[in-house]
Amino acid sequence: MIAIDGPAGSGKSTVARAVAARLGLNHLDTGAMYRSVAFAALRDGIDPSDDTAVAALVQRLSIEVDEWVIVDGEDATEAIRGSAVSVAVSAVAQNQAVRTELVRRQRAWADEQGGGVMEGRDIGSVVLPDADVKVYLTASDSERARRRAGESGQPGHDEVVADLARRDQVDSSRAASPLVVADGAVVLDTTDRTVDEVVDAVVALL
Ligand code: CDP
Repeated sequence: MIAIDGPAGSGKSTVARAVAARLGLNHLDTGAMYRSVAFAALRDGIDPSDDTAVAALVQRLSIEVDEWVIVDGEDATEAIRGSAVSVAVSAVAQNQAVRTELVRRQRAWADEQGGGVMEGRDIGSVVLPDADVKVYLTASDSERARRRAGESGQPGHDEVVADLARRDQVDSSRAASPLVVADGAVVLDTTDRTVDEVVDAVVALL
């Protein structure tokens, strides 16, 4: 089991996918699961900060995360990346009942696979504290903004940068499973490294 955590734009998804491909393992993007809950709350007209209503929603929600993201049978692959979901996801991710249920599903995935690459914010600290390899990816603020928003001056750039900063702040300071460098995690700065170099560094830890 390989646990990859880090803030938005640190390279988690790209690296997790590439490590999984290199090792012939499956990969789970847990952020897509939190985004799916936020997507379903907006779909159903539920206030994402209404902890009781969102807790009930997550219990009955079907979420499949693979190459596509299917929520209650509907393809939500693109919708979960939109700005409405990016704004709503922070409230949903602070909901302890949501975390408990999604962590249960993530551990079940890991048990079924018997090995895999999981990425998120709390994988090394909470979901898989006994993972064989734990990595915490970082990158400079300007590089993370560039990866997510493109070069400055492009339409929408400032909004994406503001959303990253806001989510990082909330994710790091929340009470429920905040983003931390897990015990035993190796910190890798991806700012000036190619994807292949980062994958080499992760695989070398096995
Ligand atoms: O792709 P990006 O890094 O922008 O975010 P993501 O991995 O899709 O996660 C979206 C949001 O879900 C994060 O900002 C966290 O609030 C939450 N999340 C979490 O709380 N725990 C996880 N294991 C994964 C995501």
